[in-house]
Amino acid sequence: MIIKKGLLLKVHLKKQGKAINLSDKIGFIGAGNMAGAIIEGILKQGVASAQDLAVIDISSEKCAGFKERGMNIFDSYDSIAEFCDIIFLAVKPQNYEEVLLKLKGFTDDCIIVSIAAGISTDYVKSCLGENSKVVRAMPNTPLLMGCGATALCHVEPVTDAEFEKVKKIFAAGGSVSVLPEEKMNSIISVNGSSPAYVYLFAKAIINGAIAQGIDAGTATALIAKTLEGSAKMITESGYNVDELIKMVSSKGGTTLMALEALYEHDFEGAIIDAMERCTKRAEELGK
Ligand SMILES: NC(=O)c1ccc[n+]([C@@H]2O[C@H](COP(=O)([O-])OP(=O)(O)OC[C@H]3O[C@@H](n4cnc5c(N)ncnc54)[C@H](OP(=O)(O)O)[C@@H]3O)[C@@H](O)[C@H]2O)c1
Repeated sequence: MIIKKGLLLKVHLKKQGKAINLSDKIGFIGAGNMAGAIIEGILKQGVASAQDLAVIDISSEKCAGFKERGMNIFDSYDSIAEFCDIIFLAVKPQNYEEVLLKLKGFTDDCIIVSIAAGISTDYVKSCLGENSKVVRAMPNTPLLMGCGATALCHVEPVTDAEFEKVKKIFAAGGSVSVLPEEKMNSIISVNGSSPAYVYLFAKAIINGAIAQGIDAGTATALIAKTLEGSAKMITESGYNVDELIKMVSSKGGTTLMALEALYEHDFEGAIIDAMERCTKRAEELGK
């Protein structure tokens, strides 16, 4: 049974005679990779239950899996907006305009969470209404594993309490950092897109291992654990990255020879170039 948020509020008010905290209904426009990753965190950490979640997607196939897990599937934008307190815009930046046009007029009581590369809160407000409550976020796909890293910005007229709710949703799937909105395009190169650079690095190591006669399974297990362990060293050892590099680099040893090749190929320069191109693309997609 689908209970509309207004109805639920009335029932509570009637029963208790005062306003109480409602369990928020959380909706997703677009049921792709990111929606799936955020939903996973919400359900695993019990931030909301499946019957409090809602999904709409142009593909009924994508919705079917969410329906099987007890979530509410909608086929109209006014009805999902009516049902939800918080709505995630989880479509590609290119689809934002059509989605925002369809939502216009139905989201006055909702917190809108925009996760698209390049889309500003001003743009969302210009489509939905200047007083719209919009939180801009940049998550990443490791959210699926409960190890995501999300950047968020807090912009008026979203209240502290409303912002905390959105933070809680992302914190269910990993860490959360708060930044000013002018950094939200650049931050994509740091956490949103960077899992792909890490996977490419892992792929190179696996291929390098295969070239030396080591089987792919063993190499994958070893590099994955090495990445995990190195990440822990960065966050928990108390050493900075230069000190950590030094700790692996014994004088006259193997690591120094390996690093020499990376410096020769300007490994750091390639990464910085990749990040700059990433940010430039966010600006091109930007609205
Ligand atoms: N993937 C990442 O690592 C990542 C990280 C941070 C932020 N983001 C942001 O997250 C957003 C979603 O990315 P994603 O990777 O999850 O994309 P995705 O897997 O392609 O998911 C988007 C879904 O929305 C559907 N869709 C398109 N137009 C729609 C409409 N009008 N109404 C309802 N559903 C519609 C798409 O269907 P079709 O496939 O049929 O078009 C697709 O199922 C993007 O804005 C991206 O910038 C992604």
